[in-house]
Amino acid sequence: MTTLAGKTALITGAAGDIGAAIARRFVKEGAIVCIADINQDDGNALAGELGEPTFFASLDVTKEDDWRMTMATLLSRHQSLDILVNNAGTLETGTIEDTDLAMWQSIQSTNATSTFLGCQAAVRTMKQTGGGVIVNMASQAAVRPRPSTLAYAASKAAIVNLTKTVASHCADNKYNIRCNVVMPGAIDTQMIYKNQVEGESDDAFVEAVNARYPLGRMGTADEIASAVVFLSSDESRFMTGAQLRVDGGGTI
Ligand SMILES: NC(=O)c1ccc[n+]([C@@H]2O[C@H](COP(=O)([O-])OP(=O)(O)OC[C@H]3O[C@@H](n4cnc5c(N)ncnc54)[C@H](O)[C@@H]3O)[C@@H](O)[C@H]2O)c1
Repeated sequence: MTTLAGKTALITGAAGDIGAAIARRFVKEGAIVCIADINQDDGNALAGELGEPTFFASLDVTKEDDWRMTMATLLSRHQSLDILVNNAGTLETGTIEDTDLAMWQSIQSTNATSTFLGCQAAVRTMKQTGGGVIVNMASQAAVRPRPSTLAYAASKAAIVNLTKTVASHCADNKYNIRCNVVMPGAIDTQMIYKNQVEGESDDAFVEAVNARYPLGRMGTADEIASAVVFLSSDESRFMTGAQLRVDGGGTI
């Protein structure tokens, strides 16, 4: 028996590195997966590769109307939403001195406001269809910020806090909706290279990042997918409002 057999899942940012790894694992675990992203080319290509149990939805997670339309499409096709993974996100670097208001607002919008909109849409839908699970994607940066990721770290801290309030509200109201957050350390994807400083070689960058982790290396997208499968399945049924750190010991 697969752990997500027959569950309907929506994964945002599913055309990206970690989102695609989650989508692949969800399909292996028996889920029906809505691959949602603003990147239509890569999203459609992934849905084409994974076939029948998946379909692509063009969803800009910062737009309330897009959420409404995606939920309506999903319900008309599959009658329920069992799992929402709020994975879409963006990283721009900047310290307190060189982050301008536009960058700050754009990062809060793509990372934090989007997670608020996703949780709201999911709670409204899931409470009518008997419950479900929400998994949010924060970062180690939420609790161990670096000076150069000011706006990103603040947006991820907001996601951690939001997760706890959503979890409490759903538990208080007996909605049968759990909400947890994954906090990855550095993961070997394209995004991590945005932290590379000018003139630094790839090898020197990777060596410096690896050295920050007690386990001696960055993680892989599939290692994050494993945590998301666990939090999405009944194996984690006594967990809500939890922060799952998947960071090679980076926050010890
Ligand atoms: N890579 C890491 O080291 C790392 C570490 C900690 C946390 N994370 C988090 O994991 C998540 C996935 O990261 P990734 O490494 O796969 O990055 P990625 O850039 O490969 O994927 C991000 C995806 O989000 C999509 N996206 C961006 N803005 C969007 C919007 N407005 N609407 C819909 N989709 C949008 C992009 O098109 C892309 O497909 C992010 O939330 C990121 O902050 C990543």
